[in-house]
Amino acid sequence: MRTESEQNIDNMIGIYLLIGAVTLLYVYLKWTFSYWDRKGFPSTGVSVPFGALESVAKGKRSFGMAIYDMYLSTKEPVVGLYFTVRPGLLIRDAQIAHDIVTKDFASFHDRGVYVDEENDPMSAGLFQMEGASWKALRSKLSPSFTSGKLKVMFETSDAIGDKLVDNIKSQLPQGGNIEVDIKKLMATYAIDIIGSTIFGLNVDSFADPNNEFVAISKKINRKTFTDILRISALFLYPGLEKFFVRIGWKQESLELMRDLAHRTVDLREKNNIVRKDLLQLLLQLRNQGRINTDDTNWSAESTKNGVKSITKDVIAGQLFLFYAAGFETTASTAAFTLYELSQNAEVMEKAKEDVRRAIENQGGKLTYDAISEMKYLEACILETTRKYPALPFLNRVCTQDYPVPDSKLVIKKGTPVIISLLGMHLDPENFPDPFSYKPERYLDENKDFNQAAYMPFGEGPRMCIGARMGKVNVKIAIAKILSNFDVEIRKEKAELEFDINGASLMPKYGVPIRLTLRK
Ligand code: HEM
Ligand SMILES: *[C@@H]1O[C@H](CO)[C@@H](O)[C@H](O)[C@H]1NC(C)=O
Repeated sequence: MRTESEQNIDNMIGIYLLIGAVTLLYVYLKWTFSYWDRKGFPSTGVSVPFGALESVAKGKRSFGMAIYDMYLSTKEPVVGLYFTVRPGLLIRDAQIAHDIVTKDFASFHDRGVYVDEENDPMSAGLFQMEGASWKALRSKLSPSFTSGKLKVMFETSDAIGDKLVDNIKSQLPQGGNIEVDIKKLMATYAIDIIGSTIFGLNVDSFADPNNEFVAISKKINRKTFTDILRISALFLYPGLEKFFVRIGWKQESLELMRDLAHRTVDLREKNNIVRKDLLQLLLQLRNQGRINTDDTNWSAESTKNGVKSITKDVIAGQLFLFYAAGFETTASTAAFTLYELSQNAEVMEKAKEDVRRAIENQGGKLTYDAISEMKYLEACILETTRKYPALPFLNRVCTQDYPVPDSKLVIKKGTPVIISLLGMHLDPENFPDPFSYKPERYLDENKDFNQAAYMPFGEGPRMCIGARMGKVNVKIAIAKILSNFDVEIRKEKAELEFDINGASLMPKYGVPIRLTLRK
């Protein structure tokens, strides 16, 4: 039996330990969250322990929106903030942001997100890769995204556009109209575009909505707690994600994607199948050491005695990344554009006329050249990607100490920096009347906006490699819709709400538009 006094001593020790632990934690947090004060950087109001991500942790805002909130909360050109306990910098000043991704690229050449080329090939996409290996792959892949290559792939996208139109027609009641969720339709369109022109699959998700590619995509895009945890780790705590992978915590959807990529490569190599898609170009790189700049030669037969310059896993990693980078962005940009057209009668008329005339000039056919001729529609897409940048932020990690222009501040190597595209694109100091949808901004001779602030596809050596491809596919879908249907003009304008999940800017409740068959 222990005496009462002995028990009292135990309790006392417990209380002291607790006080000690709380004090230590307090000191640690105080120290952590004073990082920017100690470095002399202005910072936003600090909330412990989530910092700038409090609203994200509470499920109220998406990551991109939380960064936008930070952008709005101050006027400082460079602001310190905390991604939970990790300090990072928000670059608000358009010119500094532009410099960081372009002329000062040497100090910011990586994104600093999780990548492990050796042990986890699915992580080693062009977006995540770093330094010399990024540079080498980027220059090898560049010939895949030229307009010559896109022109050849155009037929495939065009056929998918026709399936989109047929699908809507089949839903339309005779002589009547129908309200569709254009976001959902565009997601089906985009998945078929990626499946066919990138993965080289025969997918028709309008006819077969449960095909393997769609099934895997659904797994990737479901938003369970663990998915959200893994995505956050990927961007904010690369070391943690590395640990998850090391202990063998696999992400099933990525494994399925990898397996699908391997099977497709094997099938093509064994049977010497030649198709005109991105996979074919990756196979060229694999078997010939480079991508052919001759747009008529799509052969991927080995010219190097069977020597493979990239592995199947490297191919799988790029295919997965192109899917991740191209799917949601293409679908949302197309849907947002149609939504804005349905709210702006004048813009709609001009866009319709632009499409009509370009097709007429090409002998009544929607060709690649017709698409290139649609300058007003192009301006619409530029305006959509301003108001709704599908990826609402750019991010880099500082790779070499960087003195902030016109100040005494120095950004230390290793610091993550983030640029809020949404913030810069909706700032009246950069764009007059920023919430109005005005494609004319880009047609205007004197371009009445701050051009440094406009970076919907990023800028500099790491800008979006698929920008041209994305725009072409968005234009095809819209041109098809506008030339087959009349879109009802909404009587009252309304701003869309955004989803809180995921890194990209997505509509929360879909995008309703009402269509009638055109006579
Ligand atoms: C409307 C469609 C699209 C938008 C708005 C978009 C936007 C972006 C943005 C903002 C970035 C970051 C750029 C930077 O950090 O400077 C990016 C990077 C990238 N995008 Fe896109 N994208 C689109 C379509 C596509 C498509 C269709 C593909 C692939 C086929 C693609 C592949 C990539 C790749 C590979 C990167 C990383 C490039 C690198 O780090 O070298 N994107 N995209
Ligand atoms: C296509 O390119 C490959 C590799 O450069 C070459 O070996 C082959 O002869 C070319 N084929 C034609 C028909 O030009």
